[in-house]
Amino acid sequence: MQYLIYCMALMHFTPTNIEDLPTPCCLIDKAKMQRNIARLSAHIGNLQCTLRPHVKTHKSIEVTKAIIDAGNVKGITVSTLKEADYFFKHGMNDILYAVGITPNKIAHVAQLIEEGCDLTVVVDNEDMLSLVLDKMTQHNCVFKVVIELDTDGHRSGVNPHSDALLSIAKHISNSNHAKFEGVMTHAGESYACFTEKAKQDMAAQERDLTLLAVKRLSECGITCNTVSIGSTPTAFAVDQLDGITEVRAGVYVFFDLVMAGLGVCDIDDIAMSVLGTVIGHQKDKGWVITDAGWMAMSRDRGTAGHANDYGYGLVAPSSSKDKCYIMSDANQEHGIITEVSHASSESSSKGPSKMQQGDQTKNTVDIITHFPAAKAIEILPNHACATAAQYHHYYVVENGVAVDKWHSIGGW
Ligand SMILES: Cc1ncc(COP(=O)(O)O)c(C=O)c1O
Repeated sequence: MQYLIYCMALMHFTPTNIEDLPTPCCLIDKAKMQRNIARLSAHIGNLQCTLRPHVKTHKSIEVTKAIIDAGNVKGITVSTLKEADYFFKHGMNDILYAVGITPNKIAHVAQLIEEGCDLTVVVDNEDMLSLVLDKMTQHNCVFKVVIELDTDGHRSGVNPHSDALLSIAKHISNSNHAKFEGVMTHAGESYACFTEKAKQDMAAQERDLTLLAVKRLSECGITCNTVSIGSTPTAFAVDQLDGITEVRAGVYVFFDLVMAGLGVCDIDDIAMSVLGTVIGHQKDKGWVITDAGWMAMSRDRGTAGHANDYGYGLVAPSSSKDKCYIMSDANQEHGIITEVSHASSESSSKGPSKMQQGDQTKNTVDIITHFPAAKAIEILPNHACATAAQYHHYYVVENGVAVDKWHSIGGW
């Protein structure tokens, strides 16, 4: 009943000026989000391929619908079975659960399959495969399985050159309860690719090692129906996708300061922000204190190794080319906003070098005038997925007005 009342309240959202929203809260600039979505859909469409968007970034059916409306979409990727439940209930059928499966989740997966969900799971090692196959025998359904490949040394996955790849695929193919579907990989190391060349090389490596695995499996008579690659930086950098059936990306819908630092987008493309309110000041220190701290931004310090380290977030819009305001420190429910100078373009291209703290005496007057008590402040996040996960809903903003409220889910 309570949930019903909550849903009805969401359906009847009264347009609200953003200064009047309760803070902290999470805003989505709808026009920017649609532009970002259109950009990747068009790029992947031009390469004659399809997208399997990763919905873990936003965990929202409304955002997913906007991605589907832009075209070239084939199913979705999820990072939790709770996401699978939620999106299946909202009409998504073709779902890849892209975190290695474990035996304690097989009953849940079976339930979704029995309800009609076309769900695929992932394995990358023999030990786990034996354990999950054992659990699968307890159910009357066939489980679709893809093998995760390690194409960049970033985290999980089996080496595409290895014998293990072939033995895992044969083991799946020989089971009555599992069906071998193909291979997938995620080049997470693309988050350390600061130049166009580095991103293009990483994209080519992600694709080519995946195609190598497909070739080796084919030589053993094993066919891959699914050949799935992707991360946001490599999805934009890839220039040829022959043999690849789908590209996965998630954070591109909102973008964030990490993506801007990598040159995948401009700061002005970032569609997600956190709205906080100025609580007060420490004038002698040049600090503005807000009610948005690390709970509102997340503790992700993804720009820490970048040429421009934005602390916990960048105040938008950025004040000038030379200086900006950042959340330089944060407590759970307090953020400290200070002025800093941008790193020179020379140091940006060379890699990390911290932004400079401004001259405090000179800046104190500026910053206090800029951010008086009770002023609403928009702060761009380092990592949109981590920030989004702090919220249960987003305010959808058009021309400075919140026009809608979209529900999102969390947890496992
Ligand atoms: C398996 C998998 N696929 C795709 C993605 C999407 O990548 P990105 O967040 O760069 O858009 C992720 C992100 O972590 C992932 O873990």
